[in-house]
Amino acid sequence: MRFIYGFVFALALLGGAVFAAVKTGSIPANADSKPSFLEKWVAKTSLHATIARDTKDLNDPLQPTNDNLSAGVKLYAANCAVCHGAADGKPSNLAQGFSIEAPQLAKDGVTDDPVAVSYWKIKHGIRFTAMPSFAATLTDDQIWQLSMFVAQMDKLPPDVDAEWKAVPSAATTASP
Ligand code: HEC
Repeated sequence: MRFIYGFVFALALLGGAVFAAVKTGSIPANADSKPSFLEKWVAKTSLHATIARDTKDLNDPLQPTNDNLSAGVKLYAANCAVCHGAADGKPSNLAQGFSIEAPQLAKDGVTDDPVAVSYWKIKHGIRFTAMPSFAATLTDDQIWQLSMFVAQMDKLPPDVDAEWKAVPSAATTASP
């Protein structure tokens, strides 16, 4: 019985400490501070576990033809370059202000990731980061076209590569 009281007391203390931390603003809510080790660990571990479960039997139904890759470049220019940059890998002002960085994919790419993993991230978005879900705005085929493009952006067929290199830089050029 004493053990149970002790246990309940410890739980109440822990709950109180968490409540106090939230209420006093000790858990930062601003975007211009770096996330803590604990926050990063929880977010990364949960993301990997969710994606591993959801992409087990998921395969790209489309062929990596020039048409599909070229559609991917156009969709990327319209929806993604503002956060993930164009072929020069230079970040926009927007991209420089996120608390969880948006990788500039031309430099820090996802060419080693399975296509289905990128498909999942584009379709569902990544919670507590700026990465949005495109489930409501793009079709599944469009999301696959984007996923195959980001998987191959460093080894595109010459015609598609020329289209990619022609996407305007996302970096803000106007001086302050
Ligand atoms: C408003 C900003 C924003 C937009 C728009 C956006 N993303 Fe993201 N994206 C992010 C951020 C921030 C992350 C990093 C999340 C993290 O580290 O968990 C990310 C992560 C990713 C990743 C995983 C990168 C990695 O290294 O694992 C991929 C792939 C990706 N985005 C693709 C896209 C594509 C394709 C589009 C367009 C359809 C897009 N994103 C649009 C902000 C954005």
